[in-house]
Amino acid sequence: MLNKALQYCEENQNSFVDDLKQLVAIPSVSFPGFPPEEVNRSAEAVADLMRRRGLENVEILKLPDAHPYVYADWLHAPGKPTLLLYAHHDVQPPGREELWKSPPFTATERDGRLYGRGAADDKAGAVVHSSAIAAYLSTAGKLPLNVKVIIEGEEEFGSGHLEEFLQKYSQKVQADVMVLTDTGNYDVGVPSVTNALRGLVALDVTVRSMEHPLHSGMWGGPVPDPVVALAKMIASCVDKDGRIAIKGVMEQVKPLTKAERTTLESLKYTEKLLRKQSGLSPKTKIVGGKGGLLEKNWRLPSFSVNAIQASSKKDCANIINESAWCHMGIRIVPNMDAKRTLKLLQDHLKKQVPWGMQVEFTNVSASPWWYTEAAGPVFEAASTALKGGYGRDMVAIGCGGSIPFVGPFSKVLGGAPALLIGVEDPYTNPHSENESLHLGDFAKAIKSAVHLYERLAGVSFNGHRKSPAN
Ligand code: BES
Ligand code: MN
Repeated sequence: MLNKALQYCEENQNSFVDDLKQLVAIPSVSFPGFPPEEVNRSAEAVADLMRRRGLENVEILKLPDAHPYVYADWLHAPGKPTLLLYAHHDVQPPGREELWKSPPFTATERDGRLYGRGAADDKAGAVVHSSAIAAYLSTAGKLPLNVKVIIEGEEEFGSGHLEEFLQKYSQKVQADVMVLTDTGNYDVGVPSVTNALRGLVALDVTVRSMEHPLHSGMWGGPVPDPVVALAKMIASCVDKDGRIAIKGVMEQVKPLTKAERTTLESLKYTEKLLRKQSGLSPKTKIVGGKGGLLEKNWRLPSFSVNAIQASSKKDCANIINESAWCHMGIRIVPNMDAKRTLKLLQDHLKKQVPWGMQVEFTNVSASPWWYTEAAGPVFEAASTALKGGYGRDMVAIGCGGSIPFVGPFSKVLGGAPALLIGVEDPYTNPHSENESLHLGDFAKAIKSAVHLYERLAGVSFNGHRKSPAN
């Protein structure tokens, strides 16, 4: 069964890439201000793909005011485990179209990579699942275990309806183990399992001093500038080394255990590699104070300002703006409390507002961090499967990014283990222009998934499931 399925992958890789190209063609941006019809269209396309690849009970799950999830299953392996396969079909906004070397929503191959918004994050994730399933269903006509597929439509905007979704569909999604393809590999060709995600607390900050802008020469001097005020507030959030300087934040961080430190050090990550992968300019310094590079990225909080606005390049004139706006966030790690960190950030900003200006916080969000031991039968199965697919030993890694789905879902599944394997390597450039997928690793990831189903079929899960799979 396994060999036939693997051979099917070899012979049909081009059609898997075509499936992905079709999904990339739909601009399913989940952010407000972008047409929700496109996210609906994308859900339909994903549903169609699942149907074409042999899945059953394909359904589009809707909640009021939420972008649609796609559900599909194949449940004809009685007595065998049930996997919950996760990915998301929504994408980030394209960014500055003129910076794309090929159009963001026309998947384009160059030098072994497929370029396009969502080509990696995370439409590739959805196609890994559909392709591995097809490899079995088109050869043996059956899978070695049961699968349920959930492809989310609002991950990139913070999964705002996750709780509602889980309440409504908790029975439907019951499974023994979750497999998520929305993370990355340590490097191209190096298969990786992610066992830690950072969380994220974020908000919009607006500072205001008056009703309308003023001529900066006519009034400058006595009248304060909200942009300068916001700049001071932002600057006060970090110290001279770029470390978070908000009272009570760093204090919550759980120190690295000896074992964690050993694992991080064993990866031998270097500044040279970081510079190569990120494209950081040679003279720009690494920040974050003491501590290893991976520790700073995966296991310590970080502060960033994602966008800032007051007037615009186009409308730039000699004015004092009436207000200034930014969106900022803190990535959080064990054992930081999301709500508490948000409160600390807000309290800090309020104290820092200069010159009696008004400050307002909107679009506040908080997603928790997630951590699991990289051990046990599920990880062992993954290790064998990834070796089978990539021909190399896997590594366990952390992730600086966030996936709000993982923690709450694992809880609803009674503590089911979650296996995070994905195809977003360090050169993927997700959320930026020219996002891309490594096509060689995409093929290897699909084969690994084929191996994984076979492996997990032999694992016995007892105890944590609340109710039968179907
Ligand atoms: N696929 C990413 C998470 C990720 C980031 C994996 C980096 C591997 C490396 C995911 O789609 C994502 O970007 N999530 C958002 C979540 C947020 C809106 C709560 C993020 O991290 O910004
Ligand atoms: Mn993303």
